[in-house]
Amino acid sequence: MDLTNRRILLSSRPTGVPEADHFAADEVPVPEITDGEFLVQTEYWSVDPAMRGWVNAAPNYLPPVEIGAVMRSFGVGTIVASRHPNYAEGEVVSGMFGWQHYAVSDGGNVDRKVEEADLPSSLALGVLGLNGVTAYFGLTEVCEPAAGDTVVVSTAAGAVGSAVGQIAQILGCRTVGITGSAEKAVLCTDSLGYDAAINYREENLGEALRLACPDGINCYFDNACGPISDEVITHLAIGARIAICGTVALTEWDPIPVGPRVHRQLLVARARMQGFLILDYKARFPEATEKLANWVREGKLARNEHILEGADAAPGAIKMLYEGKNTGKLLVHVN
Ligand SMILES: NC(=O)c1ccc[n+]([C@@H]2O[C@H](COP(=O)([O-])OP(=O)(O)OC[C@H]3O[C@@H](n4cnc5c(N)ncnc54)[C@H](OP(=O)(O)O)[C@@H]3O)[C@@H](O)[C@H]2O)c1
Repeated sequence: MDLTNRRILLSSRPTGVPEADHFAADEVPVPEITDGEFLVQTEYWSVDPAMRGWVNAAPNYLPPVEIGAVMRSFGVGTIVASRHPNYAEGEVVSGMFGWQHYAVSDGGNVDRKVEEADLPSSLALGVLGLNGVTAYFGLTEVCEPAAGDTVVVSTAAGAVGSAVGQIAQILGCRTVGITGSAEKAVLCTDSLGYDAAINYREENLGEALRLACPDGINCYFDNACGPISDEVITHLAIGARIAICGTVALTEWDPIPVGPRVHRQLLVARARMQGFLILDYKARFPEATEKLANWVREGKLARNEHILEGADAAPGAIKMLYEGKNTGKLLVHVN
């Protein structure tokens, strides 16, 4: 096969949020596949906050991407050649294909075959992908909301947050989103169905939470950590449940900055705070994906995507997440 594979490689190791110049592009021939392999032509590359951890040297749940290697990322694409018995040409798959136009796979890095032919394939990286299942299991299994509960969500307009807010609405909860701009606050209330939204950069968060949650907060889906969560934890209702999903506001990981002690708040509210990693739910992804896809079809779960055009946009994209410049699931469209 005579094809060129354009790739984005990690060229140097950052110590915090990776910048565009930590990456370099190259072009190599696409390798021939052998028996048991297939070739995926990628269409969308995912951009996730976790990528910061994947390129830094600090210990993480995956080994760091090596210097000179293709940047690790989720992606979705179409199989264009196959010598694998279980994968056929023309099938759409999502998985860990990296920032490259063509990925050779033996199936080991495939998350799933994308069988929702009636829905855009990009959704397989967002609301029908890792972000959607994170929102679904984090909310239903860790926060355990009951109808009528007040659910507060940080990074409310983002990929995970926007799905959490909408699922909580579907479950009959009152939802309050915390986000970083006036424009995103309007998006939260007008398009994502939040009952209230707070712009933490311009409003007094404590005052705004008091007004939006007069009976306290029953569930807090925490994507942020940092000063936002320090404040939210002072407004808990009795028996509150906190799901620790992400720590995007933590600027330093080594050492981690010391914040207020939360024990008194948790004790007095008889509250529970629990971290979770979505990979622990992998066996149950199909159950969530089917529900999420049906909610999308029924118009209950809005598509919330921010799509950049072309591979050249990828190197600077991780930084966008940490500057709050994305509105919704950040993707790079390459084909
Ligand atoms: N536990 C798991 O298994 C799991 C799985 C997937 C994702 N996650 C976590 O879920 C969280 C959301 O991920 P996502 O992919 O949906 O990203 P996202 O919310 O679409 O994008 C990141 C958002 O973080 C916010 N942000 C950036 N810097 C911030 C700061 N200093 N303080 C407060 N907010 C800040 C920005 O929103 P604003 O402009 O609104 O501030 C930005 O848009 C991340 O923490 C991620 O690591 C966890």
